[in-house]
Amino acid sequence: MEIPFAEAWKIKMVEPIHKSTLEQRLKWLEEANYNVFQLKSDQVYIDCLTDSGTGAMSDRQWAAIMTGDESYAGARSFFELKDTVTEITGFEYVIPTHQGRAAENVLFSHLVKAGDIVPGNSHFDTTKGHIESRKAFAVDCTVDIAKDTQLEAPFKGNVDIDKLDKVLAENADKVPFIIITITNNTAGGQPVSMQNLRDVRKVADKYNKRVIFDSARFAENAYFIKVREEGYKDKTIREICREMFSYADAMTMSAKKDGLVNMGGFIATRWEDIYEGAKNFVIPFEGYLTYGGMNGRDMAALAVGLRENTEFDMLETRIKQIEFLASLLDEYGVPYQRPVGGHAVFVDASKVLTKVPKEEFPAQTLTVELYKGAGIRGCEIGYILADRDPVTRENRFGGLDFVRLAIPRRTYTDNHMKVIAAALKNVYDRRDSITRGVEIVWEAPLMRHFTVKLKPLS
Ligand code: F0G
Repeated sequence: MEIPFAEAWKIKMVEPIHKSTLEQRLKWLEEANYNVFQLKSDQVYIDCLTDSGTGAMSDRQWAAIMTGDESYAGARSFFELKDTVTEITGFEYVIPTHQGRAAENVLFSHLVKAGDIVPGNSHFDTTKGHIESRKAFAVDCTVDIAKDTQLEAPFKGNVDIDKLDKVLAENADKVPFIIITITNNTAGGQPVSMQNLRDVRKVADKYNKRVIFDSARFAENAYFIKVREEGYKDKTIREICREMFSYADAMTMSAKKDGLVNMGGFIATRWEDIYEGAKNFVIPFEGYLTYGGMNGRDMAALAVGLRENTEFDMLETRIKQIEFLASLLDEYGVPYQRPVGGHAVFVDASKVLTKVPKEEFPAQTLTVELYKGAGIRGCEIGYILADRDPVTRENRFGGLDFVRLAIPRRTYTDNHMKVIAAALKNVYDRRDSITRGVEIVWEAPLMRHFTVKLKPLS
């Protein structure tokens, strides 16, 4: 008999979680204004809100916490982090920040000005926020196939090179850099191929522009290159990472994802001028250069986390769990962005709640139903998150309307995946009886999804 696949770790510490009753959940939802961000975590049974900062650290990482050096300047833990980043990426200059958006804030303060155009592949919402708040524009050049959720293609996170070239041909003087998000979170955790990264580099060189990677899930991207792209199956994850980053000039990093830590981030670059420019902002915004928003102990744990998560076995364990969840959804017929991505299943709500009009936010409605059903917290990555157009103030209904079920790293077991899938199946089976969605009763002008107040329609 073939030996089955199993996790590349064993469990040393557990955290109890609790189920709730439907009656309790209905009350909690009402108190939370039907916005799952407003729930208390104790009201959630299985939390798939995000894979960001929610993973389990290893015994080695906890051991590193104890050896952290809290010196204000020149901390040993900083150099452990810096050396690890340099080894994985080839970037010599490293600036810690307290998380990914802080890295964006520091770097974009140096690089982005009003009127600029920043092309990329489905900029993450904080990335877009940091561009738009500087009165610049984020132009999405993702390949069109990313919108066809039922199409199986290996690299749906890619940049459409013709679209990118066109943006540069028309606006070269306004483009400070190109930003590539690996993996492409917004399009469903979809990877970007090495060939595509190489092609982006060529376009950048043609117009003499720099390329920045938003690298939150770079290791998962490397895993997909290894298993899906020709010529990479015999390369190590580290070798693939070195090649990926060889096509970039700098990176922003949310270490809360592929860094396997609960908080942290950094900027890294090969260029002294970028480093010098960012330095001017990290000190007032985040902290001195060798800690920039992070504790020494957290930098030490991050250095270990980056090493662990650039090992094939660790990534294989993770991605196979997501694939297991997706295989259950296949069995039940629930439509999601195919093939499943690296950190989450993105359920295509517009194909599930077909009777709920888009003006009543189908993905948010499905998020609420899923929580009601079994206390599972997903996250709307759809029309509410898309915010309003900054000029017309109209809702942006042009994109996809997903419920993202993000899976924290090394946290839940396959049994939890079965519960998530069953809960989703139950909603799916009664989908035709769900005809009304939700309406917004209050919203913030920017990034409304965190605090929006909603009311169910009936
Ligand atoms: N870039 C990407 C691709 C992200 O997914 C995130 C965060 C960030 C940047 C910002 O990093 O949270 O450390 O400030 N994504 C989380 C998510 C919040 O749930 O997808 P951060």
